[in-house]
Amino acid sequence: MAAKVVTVAQQKGGAGKTTLVIQLATALAEAGRKVGIMDIDPQGSLTTWMRRREQLGPEVAELRFAMVGGWRLGVELDRLKGGLDLVLIDSPPHAETEARAAIRAADLVLIPCQPSLLDVWASGPTVELAAREGRRAAIVLNRVPPRGRSFEEARAAVTELACRSLDAHLGNRQAFVAGIAKGLGAVESEPKSAAAEESRALAGEVVGRG
Ligand SMILES: Nc1ncnc2c1ncn2[C@@H]1O[C@H](COP(=O)(O)OP(=O)(O)O)[C@@H](O)[C@H]1O
Ligand SMILES: [Mg+2]
Repeated sequence: MAAKVVTVAQQKGGAGKTTLVIQLATALAEAGRKVGIMDIDPQGSLTTWMRRREQLGPEVAELRFAMVGGWRLGVELDRLKGGLDLVLIDSPPHAETEARAAIRAADLVLIPCQPSLLDVWASGPTVELAAREGRRAAIVLNRVPPRGRSFEEARAAVTELACRSLDAHLGNRQAFVAGIAKGLGAVESEPKSAAAEESRALAGEVVGRG
């Protein structure tokens, strides 16, 4: 069966696209899935993380990887997909042609968004882009603080966007940042942490959605 393609997209920079790709990829690999990751963001943060990961040797779960210019997306995706369960695409911010192509190629579009009204509103264009391309999309709340009403308020604002949000979300946690610095996901660097549990819950929900 062909790999499912999940594109992580968000026009607003710094929302957590790369973080989400890394946590999802490593949690899915831990759950035994064969995962590919693709970096089409010219900033190349996912590529830098992957280079670090490659230094760690064969103890870490294998992730098939490709860095591509968006215009070669189709060809590279077909090449990468073989034998995999899932491919995650990290896309550039702004309404770039590359992001559009990555959304078009997706079975599911995940839109990371911090739990504030302004961030939810800023997600509108990405939600609309996915809708125009006829893609299934879901908001993933990221950097959710441990307490406060912002989470529920953001959820309520998401309903106005006419886009569902996943039940799973990622907290604002240093474990995500520290793991990334080592070329790891939180499930690998701190497997018993809340960050790791959140990553697993997210992976479970994404796979559950087919
Ligand atoms: N859940 C999180 N907890 C703590 N820091 C986070 C979290 N998600 C993202 N960050 C931090 O926010 C910044 C932007 O995240 P990044 O994944 O690079 O976003 P994007 O790829 O959308 O530009 C980075 O410094 C990252 O470490
Ligand atoms: Mg990024």
